[in-house]
Amino acid sequence: MARIFAHRGMSAIAPENTLAAIGQCADYGVTWFETDVDIIADGTVVVIHDSHLDRTTNRTGSIYDLQASDLENIDTGSWFSQEFAGEGLPTLAQLVELMNEKKLNGNIEIKSNEQGAERTYQLIDAVIAELEKLDDDREVLISSFNQLLLAELKRRAPHLRLGVLFSKEALGYDWRSIVELVGADAIHVDEDGLTREMVQIARSAGVEINVWTVNSRARANELINWGVDGVITDEAHTFIELESGR
Ligand code: G3P
Ligand code: MG
Repeated sequence: MARIFAHRGMSAIAPENTLAAIGQCADYGVTWFETDVDIIADGTVVVIHDSHLDRTTNRTGSIYDLQASDLENIDTGSWFSQEFAGEGLPTLAQLVELMNEKKLNGNIEIKSNEQGAERTYQLIDAVIAELEKLDDDREVLISSFNQLLLAELKRRAPHLRLGVLFSKEALGYDWRSIVELVGADAIHVDEDGLTREMVQIARSAGVEINVWTVNSRARANELINWGVDGVITDEAHTFIELESGR
């Protein structure tokens, strides 16, 4: 069965990476979502894709200057639609509560923090601590483009399952060495240019392969027929039909 991941939540029908977008997964029978997390000035882990506020909020500037007390006054919904006006900038703690409440599973992408190693260690430890609050029946997969971050996370929390994100350019012949050195379970690869042969190689190596970001239904079907384990899409509200048995 191929798994459908709602990329940044239900991002075609709600503002990306908000509690509204992720909570809507439950309304459509989507059990897995993908989201992005990073750390702000006071050590709070927040849910946002960019390291600045400009694209997806009513504010400008770096997220790295924020305090937790700023978050609920940041509007992350109006840029998408007035229907979502007033959605705050979520914390990972709030997301964990939502996952427990709505029985959702998360592919948590840890962004490659731009402030150096010390902040990266803080981010890793804070993510591990928040995920401890998940109910036992919740599942998580941690992903990142930063392989050193993933290796360190695995060292600190060996029980967590990991996926190494590869852009099209980065998926070189050494991918399997990277996966094994990191201690990962999965590769998360760019759909652009992905071949059937690569899918077969990953599968025969016993490595889970999830593909992003697939918004063409024909391409999603093709990838599922090739045997990918998961499709990460902005269109999860309709692509959920592609999960077998539905
Ligand atoms: O996890 C897949 C995808 O989210 C990676 O790229 O930039 O959307 O976080 P990006
Ligand atoms: Mg992401």
